[in-house]
Amino acid sequence: MFLNDPEAVKVFFLRSAYEAHRPLNRLAGGVNLRFLSQKGRVGMPRIREARWLAPGVRWFVVEAPRVAAKHKPGHFVIVRATSDGERVPLTIADSDRAAGTITLVIQQVGATTRTLCALDVGQEILDVSGPLGKETEIEKYGHVVLVGGGVGTAVIHPQAGALKKMGNRVSAVIGGRSKDYVIMEEELTRLCDAVYPCTDDGSYGYHGFVTGKLQDLIDDVADPVHAVITAGPVPMMKAVAEVTRPRSIHTVASLNPIMVDGTGMCGGCRVMVGGKMRFACVDGPEFDAHQVDFDELRDRLTAYREQEKAALERLRAGESSHPCRIGLGVAG
Ligand code: FAD
Ligand code: NAD
Ligand code: FES
Repeated sequence: MFLNDPEAVKVFFLRSAYEAHRPLNRLAGGVNLRFLSQKGRVGMPRIREARWLAPGVRWFVVEAPRVAAKHKPGHFVIVRATSDGERVPLTIADSDRAAGTITLVIQQVGATTRTLCALDVGQEILDVSGPLGKETEIEKYGHVVLVGGGVGTAVIHPQAGALKKMGNRVSAVIGGRSKDYVIMEEELTRLCDAVYPCTDDGSYGYHGFVTGKLQDLIDDVADPVHAVITAGPVPMMKAVAEVTRPRSIHTVASLNPIMVDGTGMCGGCRVMVGGKMRFACVDGPEFDAHQVDFDELRDRLTAYREQEKAALERLRAGESSHPCRIGLGVAG
């Protein structure tokens, strides 16, 4: 974890402290973070590869050797696109230790993800902190079905290889609104025993939601399913949990609450699991899907809709989310 890297921790916490006290810093005339950034900087992550995977979904291979060296399936990073922007959590979809790179698959939904998706090969991301979160519990289950909805397919990708190495038979059910939205089928085909693409409109593969195909697989008594891992929209993960519950199939969901620091300090990512409050960034993001309160997660995800809309409108209008920087002395 990046917490084992004293230099990265120092930069992260000093920046966090600065951000937390931004109003005070402004009053005091500002703290010069340029010095801090240059002295403590771990290296600006440069983009080596970039391409569109689906409408609004971009694939990046990013230089981040320290993150790549410690990445395990289930880990995520917190990324900032601009010094005055939000921190967004993104799953590490793949990594290459030898090349010192990680792969991120980003769906543009709001201001930060749009800014990130506008980047191209050779450009740099301001900072990438991680790996964060707990790694996936990889066990020998037997037949494991990975269920990915939309960009959630990127989340299940690293698990596929690790589960296969452990001796499991691995199937993947991946869904998209239509053919153009089904992602990473080729990559998963290389790792899994079977891949079942599904589309809502029937333009490719199974016609219907991923949960319909999952139900078919579970109903095949000749080939029992022993475990399910899922990532995607909250209603989908909730529906997956309801499909596997009657047969008590071990089911893990990778949760996507709003996160801020990603280190268990702010409480922004709290989720209810089995009636207990857990922090997805340090206790998860993967939890027993049969214990998760998905309705509460859905409600919390919509809590900042007005602010998110305003940030997107500012971005669209070509403004920064922090228009006036005079006198702050903050690194750009
Ligand atoms: P905002 O303006 O903040 O939000 C725009 C819309 O997105 C709103 O409707 C809002 O409710 C919704 N939203 C905001 N945050 C989240 C969230 N955390 N999850 C779901 N919806 C959200 N996205 C990817 O594209 N690729 C990934 O690999 C990926 N991995 C994730 C891993 C984890 C552990 C978590 C917690 C989230 C992950 N997400 C991923 C979701 C991603 O973090 C959000 O889409 C992002 O924070 C939105 O930021 P924004 O500023 O662009 O949009
Ligand atoms: P989407 O809305 O197009 O749905 C993708 C697929 O999920 C559909 O094709 C369908 O098969 C299935 N699905 C959707 N709603 C369903 C329902 N009610 N019941 C059963 N199946 C359903 O997906 P998108 O626009 O690509 O959005 C991806 C979502 O994944 C976003 O909400 C994003 O925040 C989330 N996400 C989650 C994680 C995570 O860690 N869990 C990571 C990245 C993104
Ligand atoms: Fe702050 Fe998890 S993101 S506690």
